[in-house]
Amino acid sequence: MNEPLVELRGLKQHFPVETGLLERLLASETQTVKAVDGVDLTIDRGETLGLVGESGCGKSTLGKTVLQLLRPTAGEVWFDGGRIDTLSDDDLRPLRERMQFVFQDPAGSLNPRRRVRAIVRRPLEVHGIGDSRRERDERTADLVERVGLSRNHLDRYPHEFSGGQQQRIAIARALSVNPEFVVLDEPTSALDVSVQANIISLLEDLQRDFELTYLFITHDLSVVRHISDRVAVMYLGELMERGTVEEVFGAYQHPYTYSLLESIPATDLEDRGQRVVLRGEVPSPIDPPSGCKFRTRCPIAIEECAEAFEDRKFSETHTVHCIRRSPEEHGGSATPVEEPPVEAESEGISD
Ligand SMILES: Nc1ncnc2c1ncn2[C@@H]1O[C@H](COP(=O)(O)OP(=O)(O)O)[C@@H](O)[C@H]1O
Ligand SMILES: [Mg+2]
Repeated sequence: MNEPLVELRGLKQHFPVETGLLERLLASETQTVKAVDGVDLTIDRGETLGLVGESGCGKSTLGKTVLQLLRPTAGEVWFDGGRIDTLSDDDLRPLRERMQFVFQDPAGSLNPRRRVRAIVRRPLEVHGIGDSRRERDERTADLVERVGLSRNHLDRYPHEFSGGQQQRIAIARALSVNPEFVVLDEPTSALDVSVQANIISLLEDLQRDFELTYLFITHDLSVVRHISDRVAVMYLGELMERGTVEEVFGAYQHPYTYSLLESIPATDLEDRGQRVVLRGEVPSPIDPPSGCKFRTRCPIAIEECAEAFEDRKFSETHTVHCIRRSPEEHGGSATPVEEPPVEAESEGISD
């Protein structure tokens, strides 16, 4: 199954920086946060694409831009063969029910003053799905059961549920309109470890039953390895490496992927990543390094890394953004860097 459902071409999302009046008068041009800065990616129908990277690298912004919750600064978004970033809000409306978003924080995404029934039924009303209220109510009840809750829960309010149950409600709401594509933005990160696995397995069941395509955003490497068909590794708004799970976890090439996978004993990048792994700070997304954005923290960076360069293809599915790695020399190698980042003495090439 290699038919793209979603395709991103040179996608950028730059946010203007909030500045004081004086700074604005002094600055020669408006500064922007380059949250997503030139992403090319396809997501095939029926697959789960895992998107990983440290906190702040642009994962959520990418997800929202794909669904046109944010309109892109530049680049193109294609869905099911049609370009959608140029559509007006009116023309986008019929597509909205085919693409849904599940947020990290279920409590914050559910209206506290509405009962479960009204929350899950709402998208059906908005999109005019179902012929009668009764039909919509029936569909709502079925969905609530399908995500592992009971009909008795329909008349309760969100605060009466645990975090895991709240996320089940949010998932039922997302699926109520029968979407094809769902962006799951850290859907288990806010939950107790004990219930995370249940939600993951629910999402897997639902994907199979409803033939869903997932963009699964997470900083939890064990989750992404478990659930993904392909994985994309993001750093400062750009993809450093992407490939199948086997390629990215078993034969990774980019030094950044290496540092994520090898230098972190635990799986949780958000908790440990920035303290343990890499030397130096993540550069500012307002003024990121030229060329390879990782070069200021990379143990094998050379002068040429400061120049713009093309991705390198290691296989039909495996793409790496690093000029130090070549398929001829390093193809298949799972130990890509001469010096592991943790032990490296140098700070890499600085600006
Ligand atoms: N609405 C916004 N306005 C300005 N900056 C933003 C906005 N949303 C996100 N950012 C910035 O964009 C960068 C990427 O954020 P985000 O997409 O939330 O990263 P992640 O989901 O990987 O943690 C961060 O530097 C963040 O501060
Ligand atoms: Mg996020």
